[in-house]
Amino acid sequence: MDQQRLERVIQALRSHRLDGLALMPDANLAYLSGLSFHPGKRLTLVLIPAAGGPPCCVIPALEHGRAEAAARIPMRYFAWGDAEGPTAALAAAVAAALGPDARGRTLAVEHTAMRVMELRALEAAIPGLQTRDATPLLAALRMVKDAEELAAIERAVQIVETALQHTIAQIRVGMTERALSRIVSEAIIVAGGEGESFENIVASGPNAANPHHSNSERALQPGDLVIIDCGARYGGYISDITRTVAVGEPGPEARQIYDLVLRANAAGRAAARPGASGAAIDAAARAVITQGGYGPYFIHRTGHGFGLETHEPPNIVAGNDEPLRPGTTFTVEPGIYLPGVTGVRIEDDVVITADGARSLTTFGRELRIVGG
Ligand code: CO
Ligand code: CO
Repeated sequence: MDQQRLERVIQALRSHRLDGLALMPDANLAYLSGLSFHPGKRLTLVLIPAAGGPPCCVIPALEHGRAEAAARIPMRYFAWGDAEGPTAALAAAVAAALGPDARGRTLAVEHTAMRVMELRALEAAIPGLQTRDATPLLAALRMVKDAEELAAIERAVQIVETALQHTIAQIRVGMTERALSRIVSEAIIVAGGEGESFENIVASGPNAANPHHSNSERALQPGDLVIIDCGARYGGYISDITRTVAVGEPGPEARQIYDLVLRANAAGRAAARPGASGAAIDAAARAVITQGGYGPYFIHRTGHGFGLETHEPPNIVAGNDEPLRPGTTFTVEPGIYLPGVTGVRIEDDVVITADGARSLTTFGRELRIVGG
């Protein structure tokens, strides 16, 4: 499986006339090799030659054994110890990957991940190094998920839905946002998650008007809407779901905006099919809210791709006219935010199928009145 991913990367490097790809520990390295490291202060780089042949891995000696055990593709290892430093190991890896004279070669590097430390080390090892941004090239490869990836995502969805069910059942007037947040975090682990995809958001009452609210000590009050946005990680892959519930009976405007967001969410999911664009899905969801008179209060894109990371291409937003292909996973998460008053967001995880789209999240979307 990962050998196929590597071959697709090599084809992409060749079609862009690049000599190779240099990766540091991040989601793309995990995707291609199975190696999942935290980017530390010791130089760790994998050079993938466009000419083919095994990737060359420069690695701290203390990580060498773990890397060889975890790697899902054959690699050559160039380990270095703390006393000697990485310079000689990197030089040997460059020679193995690019040949004895690597001067002036062009490598793809990730502008959104690589640090100055890695870039300077490569520049020192390869005089006259040229670099190009690898981020779009790798994003395009990762956008379409294979069966193994989809299975991990579906498990991550099941876990977060179990956790959300448990959490919503605990809601009572007087609980704080932070208390509810801790329940979500723990329930995700109890349900089998490797952790949260991101720090969950519990936004109650007027705080629900802020899409990126930081959980506070505010206590839930009767009539509040509460937005809970959370995700689980499983097998390296993530889920991302939002539901909005009412604590006791909500007011008429809260009900009205809930109904609009619910219909916008359905319209966005209904517009998802092979060949549809992120722009078209965004437009379908947004039209419902605009026609309902709340267009100015839907203040973010309709969704985002996800997989190994919580935010990946494709953006479900005006201007993204690229046709979506089967296997692409993304969120549909319209919202309405009334400053100082309240807010609603309903977020689902969707995959494009051969003839349409399927919501991986199946948690009920009708307004739940809880804990009053
Ligand atoms: Co979310
Ligand atoms: Co999201």
